[in-house]
Amino acid sequence: MLIAQLTDTHLKPGGRPAYGRVDTAGLLVAAIDHVNALTPAVDAVILSGDLTDTGTAGEYAVLRPLLNRLRMPWYAVPGNHDRADALKAAFGDVVPFAPAVDFAACVVDDFPLRLIGLDSSVDGVPWGMIGTAQLAWLDATLAARPDALTLVFVHHPPFETGIGHMDVQNLSDGEALIAVLRRHPQLRHLACGHVHRAIDTMIDGVPVSIAPNAAHAVTLDLNPSAPSTFTMEPPAIRLFHLNPWGHLISHLTYPGRFDGPHPFFDKAGGLID
Ligand SMILES: [Fe+2]
Ligand SMILES: [Fe+2]
Repeated sequence: MLIAQLTDTHLKPGGRPAYGRVDTAGLLVAAIDHVNALTPAVDAVILSGDLTDTGTAGEYAVLRPLLNRLRMPWYAVPGNHDRADALKAAFGDVVPFAPAVDFAACVVDDFPLRLIGLDSSVDGVPWGMIGTAQLAWLDATLAARPDALTLVFVHHPPFETGIGHMDVQNLSDGEALIAVLRRHPQLRHLACGHVHRAIDTMIDGVPVSIAPNAAHAVTLDLNPSAPSTFTMEPPAIRLFHLNPWGHLISHLTYPGRFDGPHPFFDKAGGLID
C-alpha cells in the first residue's frame, strides 16, 4: 500500500497567490498531477491541515475541484489556518469524519493500513491541541482494532523542531498524545504538517515525521531568534509505503522534470564507466 501526504496547501480565494507571491493553487495542481502519475499507483492521499489560508467557505470552494483531480481517495484534517466546521461542511461528503463529536477527526478502515486523522485546530490561535475528549476517542478507536497496523496524521507536531518561531505554535498536549499512541503497538507512524519541511524524529518509541511542502517551505534557520520567513525550495511530497512485512517506509518524491532515469549498467551487464 502506498500513501501520499499533501500538506499545508494554503489555498487563497480565487486562487490568489499566498503572501503575495506563492502560486499555491498552481503548485497544488502540479503536486496532484505528480501523485496521479506515480507508479505503482498511490492508493490514498492524506491532507494534514492548512488546506486553506483563512478557512473561508470560498477558499474550500476553490480547493475542492483541485482535489477532485486526485484519482484515489483523499482524507483531510484541519490546521491552524483552517476552520474545522467549514472544512467539515465542505468535505464531509468525501471524508469519513467521526460522527457525534465536535472535532474534525476521521477513521479510514478501507486499506491494509488503517488511517486515523486528528483535529488539532483551536479557533483563533496558531498553536494546536488535541484535547482530552479527542484523546479519549483516539484511545478507544485504537483499542477497537488492535491488530490493524495504523498511521495517525495530524497538523501540529508534538515536538520542537529547532525552528523557534514555529515551535512556539506546536501541539500543546503533545506528551499526552504520545502517551496514548504508546499504549497501542499497532501504531506505525504519526505524520504531521505545519512546519513546511521534511523532518523526522522518534518520541518514546513512536516514529514521528513532518511532511515537506509542495509549495513554500519554512526557511531552515535554527538560530533561536530566526525571523518568520519562507523559501521557495524544491517542492516535495512524502510517501508512505507499507511493505509485505508490515514495515512502514517513508520516501520523498519531487514534482517536476529532472534529467534521467539513466541506466547504471550497459546492455552487456557491465557497470557504465
Ligand atoms: Fe502551513
Ligand atoms: Fe499550520
